[in-house]
Amino acid sequence: MKGYNVAVVGATGAVGNEMVKVLEQRDFPVKKLKLLASERSIGRELTFRGKTIPVDVLNEDSFNGIEIGLFSAGGSVSEKFAPIAAAAGCIVIDNTSAFRMVPDIPLVVPEVNPEAIALYKNKGIIANPNCSTIQMVVALKPIHDAVRIKRIVVSTYQAVSGTGKKAIEELSQQTRALLNFQDPVVKVYPHQIAFNCLPQIDVFLENGYTKEEMKMVNETKKILNDQTIAVTATTVRVPVFYGHSESVNIETQKKITAREVRELLSKAPGVLVVDDPAEKKYPLAIDAAGRDETFVGRIREDESIPSGINMWIVSDNIRKGAALNAVQIAEILANQYL
Ligand code: A2P
Repeated sequence: MKGYNVAVVGATGAVGNEMVKVLEQRDFPVKKLKLLASERSIGRELTFRGKTIPVDVLNEDSFNGIEIGLFSAGGSVSEKFAPIAAAAGCIVIDNTSAFRMVPDIPLVVPEVNPEAIALYKNKGIIANPNCSTIQMVVALKPIHDAVRIKRIVVSTYQAVSGTGKKAIEELSQQTRALLNFQDPVVKVYPHQIAFNCLPQIDVFLENGYTKEEMKMVNETKKILNDQTIAVTATTVRVPVFYGHSESVNIETQKKITAREVRELLSKAPGVLVVDDPAEKKYPLAIDAAGRDETFVGRIREDESIPSGINMWIVSDNIRKGAALNAVQIAEILANQYL
């Protein structure tokens, strides 16, 4: 089998690190793995398939001879280096929001719109969607295909790992400080995150929504390839380390029962239905952490409208929400296009 030279940009970060793990766990045909980060990481090394690999400093020559680049080092790094990598013949799978809404750049969730990967040829870049959007569309796609979704109302409960390593550290430090009657240090988020919920993820836009909320609105339409779906979102950061949870309400064109949704989703790729209220079984962030599936439960009919469904959707934001989705895209690229 052909092997590929792969680079991970941001390899020392929360998502980059997971990308290296997922490449190994899924036995992706890596010929050579290049790990890239900033000068801060000089001297660091990571383990891949039992061997240590040094972390190199990202520069304009980093992509010579590299065929696939997995980027997760922030939007400004992608804006500068993804086009440089693409010009060097490296296909970029970009986890930042830098290119997601560029019309001729595909925005891909393999369970939903794998066919869009073909458009990588336009710019040499494929965008990996926002973590909250990925898990939502994985669960909603089979329902949309069956009965057409007219409107989505989503509220999220998002883990701090989505912000990166510094935020994971901030939640643990604040928790430790508060339990020891000390003042928490607030650096990463605008307010204390320990023992709190922050109804702000990313910056506010002119319409009063946050950028994260508008990502969910716009990316959902692009991935489902349907501009007619009405989407409205409230995104909230909660003191959870791994796993985003979402309360999702949908209104459908055709009536669908809760039982039919359960049946549909139990056959859907990437979805695991956990829905047994009598046994107190429903998806939990702590159970989803480290897992690949998108977990769906609390499926029930919205009794306030003629055809609507409520559900609770949970997934590991670092895996399916980022690293796993990117590697799944790389697998399809390798199997079908390279
Ligand atoms: P470094 O560890 O050298 O700072 P996280 O999302 O967990 O904060 O991780 C961000 C990742 O992006 C890290 O691997 C970080 O490397 C990397 N990164 C941030 N800024 C740059 C940059 N200017 N050039 C290269 N890598 C960067």
